[in-house]
Amino acid sequence: DDSLRARAAEVGRPFDVGTALAENPLLTDSRYRSLAGSQFSMLTPENAFKPQFLHPRRGVYDFRDADLLVRFARANDMKVHAHTLVWHEALPDWMRENDDPEEVRRTMLRHIATVAGHFKGRVAEWDVVNEPMSDDEKSYTNGDLGLRSEQSPWFEAMGEEYIDEAFRAAHRADPQARLFLNEYGVEEEGERWDALYDLVTRLKERGVPIDGVGFQNHEYAPGDRTDPETFRSHVRDLAELGVQARVSEMDVPVGEDEEDGRQIQADEMAGKLRVCLEEPNCTSFSTWGFTDRYGSTADTKIYPPRTADSLPWDAGLQPKPAYERLLDAFDEA
Ligand code: G3I
Repeated sequence: DDSLRARAAEVGRPFDVGTALAENPLLTDSRYRSLAGSQFSMLTPENAFKPQFLHPRRGVYDFRDADLLVRFARANDMKVHAHTLVWHEALPDWMRENDDPEEVRRTMLRHIATVAGHFKGRVAEWDVVNEPMSDDEKSYTNGDLGLRSEQSPWFEAMGEEYIDEAFRAAHRADPQARLFLNEYGVEEEGERWDALYDLVTRLKERGVPIDGVGFQNHEYAPGDRTDPETFRSHVRDLAELGVQARVSEMDVPVGEDEEDGRQIQADEMAGKLRVCLEEPNCTSFSTWGFTDRYGSTADTKIYPPRTADSLPWDAGLQPKPAYERLLDAFDEA
C-alpha cells in the first residue's frame, strides 16, 4: 500500500502523518476527499474549530462544520488534532469587546469548557494555546518574557497566567486529550526559541498539564533551507522536560525555478520528517493542507492563499517529489 499513512503505521510506535483540511473542498471535490482519507492518519481542521466560527456570539455555538470534519475523520479512521482553543486571531468581535479582566478570564474558561467538552472523546489532541510568542523584539527586554501582548485579549487580561489556566481548563474538560502549545518561527536558533523553551520550563515547574509543543514549520521564501539538526536539538530539549513535539503545519514554497524549488521542498520536508521519526518524543508530522489546488490555506473562498505552490501535491492533484521523499524518509527510518 503506497501511502503515507501505511508507512506511518509501520513505524513501530504510535506515529501519525497529517494535514490541515477544510470543509469546502471536502464537500465539493471527491479527489481531494479521497486523497485526504487515503494518505493521512490525522487531520487538523484548518478553520472550523476557531472561535470565530464555533462561537460567533456570546453563548451561541455552531458546531456544524467542525462536526463534519470529525465525522470525516471517524469514517476514514483518522485522528483529529483540534485547532485551536486560545489564540489572538480568528476571534469573533464580541470576544475582543470586553476589557474587564475577570470577564475576559471567565469568557476564556467557558469557551474552553464548552468546546473541549463538546469534542471530548472524539478528538485525540488540542492546540490549547496557539502562537503565544511575540513578534515584537522589545518583548524580550520589557518584562513580557517574549510573550505576545499585541492584540491578545488573553495576555492583556491575565498575563502569562492565561496559558496555565487554558491548559488546566482543557485538561478538566477532556482529560484524555493530549494538549499542545503551537508556535511558528521556533525551528531555528534565536531569542524566540529560547523564550519559548523558558516558557515551557516554567509551565512544567508549575505543574501545568502540557503534553507537547507543535513546531509549525512554515517556510516563507522559495529556496530557503532550515537545518533539521537545529530542530532535532529543540525536540531533545523538550524531551528532557518530559514534553513531546510535532511538526504541525509545514509548507515550503517552490518559487519560479520549479525544478530546484521542488527538490528543496522535498529536502526540507523529508529532513524534518526524518528527524521526527528518529526522536522518540516526536509524535506526528503534518502539513498545512496537501494540495496546491487550494494552496496552503485551503479554505479559500475568501482568504487568498499565501502561496500557491508550497504543498506536496500540485494543483492537478499529482504528487511532487516531496511526496516520494516523504515515503522514502519512512523507509529509511
Ligand atoms: O469564511 C469567512 C467568511 O464567512 C467571512 O465573511 C470572512 C470575513 O473575514 O472571513 C471568512 O473567513 C476567512 C477564513 O480564513 C476562511 O476562508 C477568514 O477571514 C480568514 O482570516 C481565515 O484565514 C485563516 C487564517 O489561519 C486565520 O484564521 C486561513 O484560512 C488559515 O489557513 C490560517 O491558518 C493559520 C493557522 O490557524 C495557525 N498558523 C498559521 C496558519 C496560516 O499559515
